Amino acid sequence: MAMKMPSAERLEQKEARPFTEEHIGMTELLPDFRMDLRNPDPAGLDRFIKANQVHDWSLLTWKDVGRPHRVEEMAKTRTDWESSHQKTMSVHHSWEHFNRSFHEWFVKDVPKEFKENRSSLARHLLRFNLKEVKAGLGETLRLSLWNYAQRIEDGVWDPRGKRALFQGLDVHKPRILFLGAAEGYEAMQLTAMYPGGEVVLVDYDEFCKTDRYGDFPNTYPFLGSNPVTGNAKVWYKDEMNIHYIVDDIRNLSFGKEFDIVISVGLLEHFPDEIKNEVMEWHRKFLKPGGYAILTTPRNQWRTRFYYHVMADVMNYMYRELMNIEQMGLYVYENGFDILRHGFIKVHNGIVAQPR
Ligand SMILES: C[S@@+](CC[C@H](N)C(=O)[O-])C[C@H]1O[C@@H](n2cnc3c(N)ncnc32)[C@H](O)[C@@H]1O
Repeated sequence: MAMKMPSAERLEQKEARPFTEEHIGMTELLPDFRMDLRNPDPAGLDRFIKANQVHDWSLLTWKDVGRPHRVEEMAKTRTDWESSHQKTMSVHHSWEHFNRSFHEWFVKDVPKEFKENRSSLARHLLRFNLKEVKAGLGETLRLSLWNYAQRIEDGVWDPRGKRALFQGLDVHKPRILFLGAAEGYEAMQLTAMYPGGEVVLVDYDEFCKTDRYGDFPNTYPFLGSNPVTGNAKVWYKDEMNIHYIVDDIRNLSFGKEFDIVISVGLLEHFPDEIKNEVMEWHRKFLKPGGYAILTTPRNQWRTRFYYHVMADVMNYMYRELMNIEQMGLYVYENGFDILRHGFIKVHNGIVAQPR
């Protein structure tokens, strides 16, 4: 019997949404990211988070936990800019640099770049161009680290760790507000797990809307749930109800209307005297009973090494690396009860509610 040819429309959709429920349980290393649809069963997710080690936050003091580690090394672009302008780069301007520089890495075809690096290194070596050889070796080191952190380990997005942190929330079709959203990854993961609601991404850098979120691959499969059957389902960015607001978080005029307010890598960019303001941002838009979710990068040697090797890509602004006890104390002391806390591959994570 002759096989029925798929229609052009079906083929187009397959290209745009290459993974379906048939791929659940699988992972594959793609040129720019890892597709990871493993571990669909929520019960098995707990092994991807080291959770709930502190039993009573009221007993913990700063004397017990020590202070966060401050990353002092700055990107050369920033130090050059500051010495030529004879002033400090503003926080907003620093984020603009960071977002452009970080984004370049997300869109790399890593195997192709490795190949190109190798052949240009060989050319420079043959001609004894030592300056270029040194620069090429630095680039190869950064590429290897990125390949490991983002593709092989999948530590930046860490879908299984994030799902472990986000699971078990008592929400139905939630409205989700992402503060300092950049590309918006975690809110997309949340809305895949708790579908049918709305996502509002907020970032004051327009580039985040146009490029970081705009270029986020439509082909990235998020493992979530099917609202009709409750079974696992693969979701894509273009199936989600997402709005992007380009503005300062301080200007938002929302009331207490969100079920979830999330930030990823925001709290550690503010020194202690501003941390209460940042925590207030997480409180003021939450409905009663809503959840604040925060993650920050862990203070571990691998992370410190990453921010050293990737300094010219990442280090444009004030940054602390903390452990989960330090992060938890900031959250607890600023008036939140901590419902779940723990660490995943490279992040600390907390789910909390205003007291
Ligand atoms: C470190 S990024 C978040 C980490 C992100 N997941 C990433 O991959 O880059 C923090 C984001 O918050 C934004 N941001 C910082 N302060 C803000 C403010 N006051 N209002 C709006 N956006 C802000 C920055 O522009 C930046 O895109």
